[in-house]
Amino acid sequence: MARIIRHNPSRTLAEFRLLPGLTTIASSIGAVDLSTRLAWFPEGERELRLSIPVAGAAMQSVSGAALAVEMARLGGTAFIFCSQPAESQAEITKTVKTFRPADEISAAGLPGATDAHGRALCVAAVNTHDFERRVPCLVDAGADALAIDASDGYSVYQERTIAWILERFPHVPVVGGNIVTAEGFRFLAEAGARAVKVGMGSGSICITQEQKGTGRGLATAIIEVAQERDEYCTRTGKYLPLIADGGLGDARDVVTALALGADYVMMGRFLARTEESPNAKVQVGNRVMKPYWGEGSARAREWHSARYHQAAFPEGVEGFVEYAGPLKDNLDTLLAKVRAAMSSCGCANIIELHEKAEVELVSALSIREGQVHDVFTVGGEHDNSMKWNG
Ligand code: IMP
Repeated sequence: MARIIRHNPSRTLAEFRLLPGLTTIASSIGAVDLSTRLAWFPEGERELRLSIPVAGAAMQSVSGAALAVEMARLGGTAFIFCSQPAESQAEITKTVKTFRPADEISAAGLPGATDAHGRALCVAAVNTHDFERRVPCLVDAGADALAIDASDGYSVYQERTIAWILERFPHVPVVGGNIVTAEGFRFLAEAGARAVKVGMGSGSICITQEQKGTGRGLATAIIEVAQERDEYCTRTGKYLPLIADGGLGDARDVVTALALGADYVMMGRFLARTEESPNAKVQVGNRVMKPYWGEGSARAREWHSARYHQAAFPEGVEGFVEYAGPLKDNLDTLLAKVRAAMSSCGCANIIELHEKAEVELVSALSIREGQVHDVFTVGGEHDNSMKWNG
């Protein structure tokens, strides 16, 4: 018999809603501060911060040089994908590091995400196989942090990779993951990870749950891991930021993930749709699309075994996402909604959101009530009513 059988189903972000708190002048929409820590830094070391709580997923079809530069300019970051030769990944890292967003303040008025020298912040992904060769190239190219890209981070391979990096490059923070349990978090924290990605089986291109039966609803994963993270912080004084990763589709998902305890989110599909993602637009029927594929898909095959040990079957699919225009427009809209939600909750920043948010599980009928219903809308943007009413 299984060691533990949990009868409470795991939940996803879309099943929760935020309750309003008192909105004050300090938490008015314009005053909401979305900045967040990239990782834990020992006392005396300069912290790396993001002005916005969004990171680009370490994926071939998302985080290339153009997206990483634009993300840094807008105050976020992108994790440069490692499913490519170390040399080309280092080239992308160098390109990003030559950019100085602090010369420019983004139109949203936020400072770009930078290192101590005003250069664009850049995180590079690594795997647990060729790290001994890859990591020195990336550190040499100026990577500010390294993030281990693994679908299941609760492994001795990850521990070994972190130990190796810590010994040779102790000043470079390592982001571990992905994990979805308190045990997984503790393991990576004790191994030396300075931030942890949370999520398994929830990505838009992900078929891990279907193929292997492993995974967890992202909300439940964040809740359990955030509780463990907070206890770990009380015990050790080390606050490890959590990155909610996989399946975040819109502002509701982002603000719910942050309220439940995430410090920033990682997005793939959302960013793959933008002008700055690496692939050219294609016409599919009468729609303009961009290709988007999983790191565990057949398309990423030559690097398949590096991330997914069982190269025998795919853990991701390949498809298209509808082109959505410039990254900035998409992020501005997304974050305007996140700010408005935080303001409604009376929270002026992400730390306050963690301390003060009231989050409630909602019923399926309640979710339906929260959508447009019983109305034939003009314009077609909200056409749910048509679907319900036949
Ligand atoms: P999305 O934002 O819902 O598109 O999810 C992106 C996330 O899915 C990434 O950050 C990875 O954690 C995860 N991911 C990327 N490629 C694959 C894959 O092939 N299989 C399963 N998960 C993947």
